[in-house]
Amino acid sequence: MRRAIYPGSFDPVTNGHLDIIERSCKLFDEIIISILVNPEKQPFFSIEERHDMLTQVLREIDRGSCDVRVDSFQGLLVNYAVAQKAHAIVRGIRAISDYEYELQMALMNRRLEPSIETVFMMSAETYTYVSSRLVKEVFQLAGWTCPAVNRKANERKNEQSLALTSQLAHGILRFQGR
Ligand code: PNS
Repeated sequence: MRRAIYPGSFDPVTNGHLDIIERSCKLFDEIIISILVNPEKQPFFSIEERHDMLTQVLREIDRGSCDVRVDSFQGLLVNYAVAQKAHAIVRGIRAISDYEYELQMALMNRRLEPSIETVFMMSAETYTYVSSRLVKEVFQLAGWTCPAVNRKANERKNEQSLALTSQLAHGILRFQGR
């Protein structure tokens, strides 16, 4: 039984992430999508939202016979991977710009825990420009549905924005004396 960890922030999950998961399903019997809980960073989506979004969208991808589940972790990735009895860590690489950071992490992780291999997967060319950071930026600045990000993530955020917009509208009305 080959088990892999696919760690990340997933803030939010993108179609690029899903592409990597689909590809990894062909190599592993089990994949644990592991969301990093980072108390030092203020995420756009909460851990629960990211967990929910991932669980939703995972139903829509081709997993074959691979068992895919979502989890979250804190602390060192390799410690978590060992605790989960994983054999490998999966990371997606889009462009050469990703490579330097990923190489450093892979080598540091290997130094910390030689029993765990890092497997790099290349996402489809269609998604090479997609990143959670850009998706968030576009979403925050334009507020419209970005086709590159998964539909479910957009639906969730639209619901939230609607609630926020409504709150803001009520605040403005109150300010005007209503
Ligand atoms: O999606 P991201 O933000 O690029 O994922 C980065 C992640 C979660 C893989 C990385 O930050 C990580 O592994 N963090 C856990 C802490 C850790 O193990 N740090 C040492 C890495 S060499």
